[in-house]
Amino acid sequence: MNFRKRTHTCGELNIKNENKEVTLNGWVSKKRDLGGLLFIDLRDRYGITQLKIIPENKDIYDTALKLGQEYVISASGKVLKRESINKNIPTGEIEIELTGIEILNESEVPPFVIEDDVKATDELRLKYRYLDLRRKSLTDNFIIRNQAYQIVHKYFEKHNFIEVETPMLMKSTPEGARDYLVPSRVHYGKFYALPQSPQLYKQILMVSGFDRYVQICKCFRDEDLRADRQPEFTQIDLEMSFVGQDDVFEIVEGMFKEIWKEIKGIDLPERFTRMSYDEAMSTYGSDKPDLRITGDMKIVNLTETVKGSEFKVFNDALESGGIVAGIKLSSKEVSRKIIDGLTEFVKKSGFGGLGYLKFNPDGTVQSPVVKFLNENIIENIKKKFSTEKGDTIFILSGEKMKVFQTLGQLRLKLAEDFGLTDKSKYEFVWVIDFPLFRYEADDKRFYAEHHVFTMPKDEYIKFLDSKDVNEIESIRANCYDLVLNGHEVISGSIRIHKPELQKKVFDIIGLSDEEAKMKFGFILEAFRYGAPPHGGAAVGFDRIIAILCGLNSITDTIAFPKTLKASSLMDECPSEVSKEQLDELGIEIKQKK
Ligand code: AMO
Repeated sequence: MNFRKRTHTCGELNIKNENKEVTLNGWVSKKRDLGGLLFIDLRDRYGITQLKIIPENKDIYDTALKLGQEYVISASGKVLKRESINKNIPTGEIEIELTGIEILNESEVPPFVIEDDVKATDELRLKYRYLDLRRKSLTDNFIIRNQAYQIVHKYFEKHNFIEVETPMLMKSTPEGARDYLVPSRVHYGKFYALPQSPQLYKQILMVSGFDRYVQICKCFRDEDLRADRQPEFTQIDLEMSFVGQDDVFEIVEGMFKEIWKEIKGIDLPERFTRMSYDEAMSTYGSDKPDLRITGDMKIVNLTETVKGSEFKVFNDALESGGIVAGIKLSSKEVSRKIIDGLTEFVKKSGFGGLGYLKFNPDGTVQSPVVKFLNENIIENIKKKFSTEKGDTIFILSGEKMKVFQTLGQLRLKLAEDFGLTDKSKYEFVWVIDFPLFRYEADDKRFYAEHHVFTMPKDEYIKFLDSKDVNEIESIRANCYDLVLNGHEVISGSIRIHKPELQKKVFDIIGLSDEEAKMKFGFILEAFRYGAPPHGGAAVGFDRIIAILCGLNSITDTIAFPKTLKASSLMDECPSEVSKEQLDELGIEIKQKK
């Protein structure tokens, strides 16, 4: 094809290029007819440049009149100083007066106008994703994503990691989420699974002596989707041999420091804060504490403080082994309507109501519970919260974890409603010492909280032989999450490398030798040939990019994302397949119940 190729991009010309003859290639973003003079905004990935067409250049003018939105053109001309300067764009001081134009391709009228302040619905944008991706604000996310890729690759190369690709077709070992299954044609009636993560392979690579493994890889999980969960997403997956928790932390922190320095120009702290799971739950009501919230909004346990009150609701909770706890909202006007709204909010979590103590500026205390609390108790509550006039304390009573979690959610709601989150901050915190097991009362069994290969902390190993539910529940693991601004961005652990210990964990979660062999036989076998002590982590890459780009959802960090119903509106998948395809695989679709 013979066309005039660009000499510059649409984002780079400025007043220094005045009088230069140039050629640009791009898409027609806007066309304006100002009484004879035609102006075109030409767009490419790099920016927008204004083209000017005067009627005297008749051929060019006539061609320009035919241009529709999103036509692809080649435009040549001279760089001139603009009369009315646009300070908002880097090319805003100049325009190109055209001496040549060529239509490289026409475009149908696009279903929405491609502009940063897009008006189209999410569905329409996803259906025409290729058009949406032309918007600068969206393209910019991928430029940041690419920058992060490059930094990550270089960083791990520098630290002696080997990047290894692991299989996309693997054995189904459902544990956390549901697997995406892939039927095998050759092995009639058998299935592969798409990896939920390369967990087993990376551990096997440690047995192979690779010592330091990393991979930026796709993971697939058939689970309920949310703003920060896609069915197929990307991890920076890493594993290291002969390490403890601190070694993994050091490598991960170093990676974040380089990303933040290069992309944001921000120096992150030398060492990230660490907090135990128990502290996170009892202080922030969440294992993903958002530490950007200003004011002293920590949960305070009031169980001892309110003992001896005449309030039946508190006393009932305490008698049944529960707790009383609260959080403080500092110096904000809290109206009746606000309190009603917050009460409705906690009722959704199964609480009968929300207790509160409002310390009015005139020194009086407004509260539905104050009549049941003696002066001593009120004074002690005030002391525990270092209360000042104008503060309000919200109180809940009931089962311990439920109280913590609901107060944690209330904390986030108050922060949102009263604008208490410092959005300019990046608050990293390692949450450590997670429970090894979670007990589900409904099916009366234990589940692995992280995954079955997670190493218990030394001091708890003795409880692996216990039959006592509380003792088993108390076991803490060498397992950690890195939380950034209230989002879990990394999860990992030090792994069990000794078969005897592994067997005890399988016993507790009720996995028989036979089942364990069926599910994990290959890795258990590999472990018999000299598995080194090892551990690692996986970074939720899309979540990090979303935070770097200031997005609330990971959707726009992924070029071709799925909807919350796990479908792609652009290529219309999942879709039905032909009967021949199904027959070949021996699959018959049953009527949905
Ligand atoms: P985990 O399952 O916690 O651990 O995943 C690690 C990190 O991946 C991100 N993540 C997701 N991001 C987008 N969409 C999803 N559906 C999704 N699910 C998880 C989160 C999470 O912290 N193999 C272990 C890690 C290890 O132990 O080394 C694992 O996959 O940011």
